[in-house]
Amino acid sequence: MCGIVGYVGKKNVRDVIIEGLHRLEYRGYDSAGIATTDGKTLVVKKAIGKISDLEKAIQGISFPGSIGMGHTRWATHGGVTEANAHPHTGCPWTKKLQVAVAHNGIIENYRHIKTLLEKKGHMFTSETDTEVIAHLIEEYANGSLFEAVRAALNDLEGAYAIVVISKEYPHELIAARNQSPLVLGVGKGEYYIGSDPSAFVTHTRDVIHVEDGEIVRITPEGYTISLLDNTPISRNVTHIDWDAKKIEKGGYDHYMKKEIDEQPHSTRDAMRGRIDIENGNARLRGIEDKLNELSILKRIIITACGTSWHAGLVGEYLIEELARIPVEVEYASEFRYRSPIIEPGTAVLVISQSGETADTLAALREAKRQGGLVLGICNVIGSTIARETHSGVYLHAGPEIGVASTKAFTSQITVLTLLSVLLARSRGMSQARGQQLLKALADIPEKMTYLLRPENEQAIKKIAEAHAERNHFLYLGRGINFPVALEGALKLKEISYIHAEGYPAAEMKHGPIALIDKKMPSVIIALKHDPLYPKIISNMEEILARGGDIIAVATEEDGEIEKKAKHVLRVPTVPIELSPLVTALPLQMLAYYAAVKRGCEIDQPRNLAKSVTVE
Ligand code: M6R
Repeated sequence: MCGIVGYVGKKNVRDVIIEGLHRLEYRGYDSAGIATTDGKTLVVKKAIGKISDLEKAIQGISFPGSIGMGHTRWATHGGVTEANAHPHTGCPWTKKLQVAVAHNGIIENYRHIKTLLEKKGHMFTSETDTEVIAHLIEEYANGSLFEAVRAALNDLEGAYAIVVISKEYPHELIAARNQSPLVLGVGKGEYYIGSDPSAFVTHTRDVIHVEDGEIVRITPEGYTISLLDNTPISRNVTHIDWDAKKIEKGGYDHYMKKEIDEQPHSTRDAMRGRIDIENGNARLRGIEDKLNELSILKRIIITACGTSWHAGLVGEYLIEELARIPVEVEYASEFRYRSPIIEPGTAVLVISQSGETADTLAALREAKRQGGLVLGICNVIGSTIARETHSGVYLHAGPEIGVASTKAFTSQITVLTLLSVLLARSRGMSQARGQQLLKALADIPEKMTYLLRPENEQAIKKIAEAHAERNHFLYLGRGINFPVALEGALKLKEISYIHAEGYPAAEMKHGPIALIDKKMPSVIIALKHDPLYPKIISNMEEILARGGDIIAVATEEDGEIEKKAKHVLRVPTVPIELSPLVTALPLQMLAYYAAVKRGCEIDQPRNLAKSVTVE
């Protein structure tokens, strides 16, 4: 996730862009850049770090013209370097069209386009997917910036919100959107473009939300919106009345809730370009160089902390079930100190959202010291863990700001599912089975959107509020949903400060059952199509017999569950292997609304930090 801002008007362009970038910094903050033009020169300056670092880097530089753009980056392709920062330009020697492009999203077919353009003599200076857009526009230069951009967009596959300016057309800014947000701000004789209205909210609150497949042309005289095939679009301006702080959170009160709701999108991003339906296989470019070693693996050790460790447990179920490779999941803090045995044929898989967790990093280094093959699953590009693993896969979930991890969890499970299919296909899993799983995986974002619909959310909120004053909760699940029970309990305790324990449902009778009474609710994941469902029902009976209350996570088809459970959190039916991708969501919301009701500090819970960089 990156932030884009553009401006056409009479104000000081540099100041407008820098202010907008500060407001968008929550969207990404590893590097930033600015470009303006007056028709004589196209000035592009970039810097690694925060917007304040960019400000220092551009001190004393003048930015000419009345048109400009800025970008704050959250790396997706290529490390955090000045060359990879946006805006990107085409060939420095071009006489055709000198453009600057800022982009948010992922261009899936960029390698193919890059190869074609290199053959035509284009020289690339970054490792990004975005740079191909600048070169493509240059390639299509034909006497109109708008037409060149339109032609280039027709070649692109993937997600984008882009802004383009050029030296040759110093009174024209072109922007376009496909699956990445873009908003046009309409001022008095001036126009703004932004990833969200926070980019320009101090200047205008009159906005037009640009839709997928639309291209916007802005000049000092006005704007036009059209489809990629040139069909004109007319859209009403709407007035927003939120304050700037709220807009940064996209209208949400808390980042955690925003990130819960982002999951259909972040999950889709985690699988984008990685599903090969035809071959029933997954394509994980980050570990492609290790495919031979992976095909003969004898054992996998997954190591991580907190929520990432829970995702690792889901990974254990998936890899063992689908690929039949033995997997152990270890807390990184334990693994690092207990002389783990890493024989040839063992791969160590480290999982970390931040890529900076001290214990996970130490575990990684211990595994490397012992000569193991170390793979990573990380969200933050260029983070220490991402750099130090031998190979790895990124989540592409965008920045996760709420301390309670939500979207990273589901993205980790998505990547682990892809990895499991890849490992399984090299060990004899049929193409048809691969296709079946991957098709179901591709449907998950839609199922999540359905799950997150307002009526369902209200139902979950009501249940959370009704239980917010309880002091203890038990979370139970079986099989692949046991780790989800652990994750549900962790979410509740870390943001609401209610004591919660997660257990495999059958383990309850070996101790925790002693705690059950009217005051302690049990949250049980009970999916009707789960082969273990009858056993879970028996576990419910055990709770009811002791006067306990049950909140069940159940599928919509389950008309019987109310006989056992006083409250039901409904989820759509998906294959059991993928069910954590839906069962996790109501538990995140249950914790969120209980914490809101208790008046807790949701995004920065007490005693916690987003990235635990100490032992
Ligand atoms: O950045 P990481 O995934 O390595 O972080 C690991 C844990 O610190 C993290 O998941 C923590 O448990 C979260 N606060 C859970 O919501």
